[in-house]
Amino acid sequence: MDPVRNPYAPGAGQRPPELAGRDRELSMFDVVLERVSRGRPERSLILTGLRGVGKTVLLNTLRSQAISRLWGTGKIEARPDQSLRRPLSAALHMAVRELAPHHRAPDRIDDFLAVLKAFALRGDATSGRQEKLRDRWQPGIDVPPTSGRADSGDIEIDLVELLSDAASVATDVGTGIALFIDEMQDMSPYDVSALCAACHELSQTGAPLIVVGAGLPHLPAVLSGAKSYSERLFRYLRIDRLDRISADQALCAPAEREHVSFEDKALDVLYEASGGYPYFVQAYGKATWDHAPQSPITPDDVRVAAPDAESELAVGFFGSRYERATPAEREYMRVMAQLSSHDNGTDVDVAVPTAEIARTLDRKPASLSPARDALIKKGLIYCGERGTVAFTVPHFARYLRTQPNSDG
Ligand SMILES: Nc1ncnc2c1ncn2[C@@H]1O[C@H](COP(=O)(O)OP(=O)(O)OP(=O)(O)O)[C@@H](O)[C@H]1O
Ligand SMILES: [Mg+2]
Repeated sequence: MDPVRNPYAPGAGQRPPELAGRDRELSMFDVVLERVSRGRPERSLILTGLRGVGKTVLLNTLRSQAISRLWGTGKIEARPDQSLRRPLSAALHMAVRELAPHHRAPDRIDDFLAVLKAFALRGDATSGRQEKLRDRWQPGIDVPPTSGRADSGDIEIDLVELLSDAASVATDVGTGIALFIDEMQDMSPYDVSALCAACHELSQTGAPLIVVGAGLPHLPAVLSGAKSYSERLFRYLRIDRLDRISADQALCAPAEREHVSFEDKALDVLYEASGGYPYFVQAYGKATWDHAPQSPITPDDVRVAAPDAESELAVGFFGSRYERATPAEREYMRVMAQLSSHDNGTDVDVAVPTAEIARTLDRKPASLSPARDALIKKGLIYCGERGTVAFTVPHFARYLRTQPNSDG
């Protein structure tokens, strides 16, 4: 059918034509926003899930929800080896600019911006990294920086002061501030620890500022490694693959708007191929649409299109990640894939004990730590429970099992 009218959107953070299966999260967030703006106690939120399950898309949708309630919002994508100061300053600047038109005292906004600038220009004394923050970079704030607030150089102290001041601007206008942090597992331990401390402090004073983080499944472990109370500080939401009804809705609703329908059996075949993972739902949906000669779409249309979707996934989704691994890391992942071959009747990759990987390779577990740690840092695998590792990418094990061992 007409590829120009193809509604499906496989991509990173790409808004799907139909946001399926997330009603629970959306209505929960509505309650959070309402409670926080009324000064009720609430916890910040953490969304966790595998690659391509729709964390970024959900984060963006929650942000729109906050904006529509006239909250100030800002978003950060954490990167390994990058301090939080600059991106956080930019995000808060954005949030306060959104609030400014509703504020009756422009001086208060300027006072806050002066603190924000002082925070932004300060290097981190505690991070173990000396960044040359004064070189060329300017936060784009016209007021001069203050001194003596949020500029101690200790990120923990500074964050508490900065976020409290930001929250009090939001209190003035009767709403709140929501900070969205994507790829949160990549934040440095110093920054994670400081952010937890700031959230802890703010939650005690009922300040209307919340953090909504998103990251890989081991993010809760990263947070509790930084502060033991983080388990009580955040509310964790696991973002998972779509159930059958939601996956069908993700495919059928956009098609209906184009007056196209699916035969039930076509939806069976599509669900079997995608396993309900949102990225795969979009990828198979897109290929199927392009191949199908007419509506309704039949199971054979899906079968004819599937190899196209798979080869695109093999290059873009799996291959690009596999390429990032060194030969030793690839060997590690191949053994993982072999050992995670499941007889559990589902398509979900199982976690593999690291000891078993060492045994299979006939190596000492310690000698494999560098490969494992590098793979974690590259975001390809994560540590599960009780000494296990698992792939962050759904269906990655299946992909690896079909790859020839080109590294000898
Ligand atoms: N609820 C949903 N219904 C239908 N499609 C969705 C849904 N959520 C996400 N998608 C689609 O899935 C794809 C992946 O979404 P997204 O980039 O948000 O995933 P992610 O979890 O952030 O992945 P990563 O961990 O790689 O950043 C996008 O193409 C998006 O359109
Ligand atoms: Mg994402």
